[in-house]
Amino acid sequence: MKPSEELNSEHRIIGKAISTLRAIARSVREDRDVPVALLDHELEFIRGFTEECHHRKEEEVLFPALAEQLRTAPVDPLPEFLREHVRIRILLDELREAVGAYAAGETANGDKLAAPADEYADLSIEHMRKENVILIDLIENTLPADKKLEVAERFLVIEDELGPGYREYYEELADNLRDEGRRMAA
Ligand SMILES: [Fe+2]
Ligand SMILES: [Fe+2]
Repeated sequence: MKPSEELNSEHRIIGKAISTLRAIARSVREDRDVPVALLDHELEFIRGFTEECHHRKEEEVLFPALAEQLRTAPVDPLPEFLREHVRIRILLDELREAVGAYAAGETANGDKLAAPADEYADLSIEHMRKENVILIDLIENTLPADKKLEVAERFLVIEDELGPGYREYYEELADNLRDEGRRMAA
């Protein structure tokens, strides 16, 4: 897969799983019970796919490759993207903590879980929307063909490290999370 297509496709998969965070936030605010297994699956997806696969590809491979091309460019969007990754990880820690408290029976104040869930979803979706425009344009218009090939190969190395069936597992998990979120919102 071309790096720009891979990025787009991973954003679509992440978008499905993240949409459920909003349904979760709404449910706990309305005092409806959310299964702890669903919260655990959401965290499993974010840790296993968003962090260990997608952010890793961006931070270890794509951003360094683009940084080389952007050395003399007047505007460099990469530091802002990296700062957003840091913020996304801080929100993930907050979400993990809130899920732990909810699972331990602290369910009276729904906002404690809803606030980090909504914030995580909002920032992630905004971040991916920007990347879909800016990063894809940079890949297509500044990366030379041989660098694009190198990026694609290094993405494959990461996928290989993650093991066989890795992508299929998380794609299915994202579909299940999205379906569960839709059921909750109905
Ligand atoms: Fe990113
Ligand atoms: Fe991304």
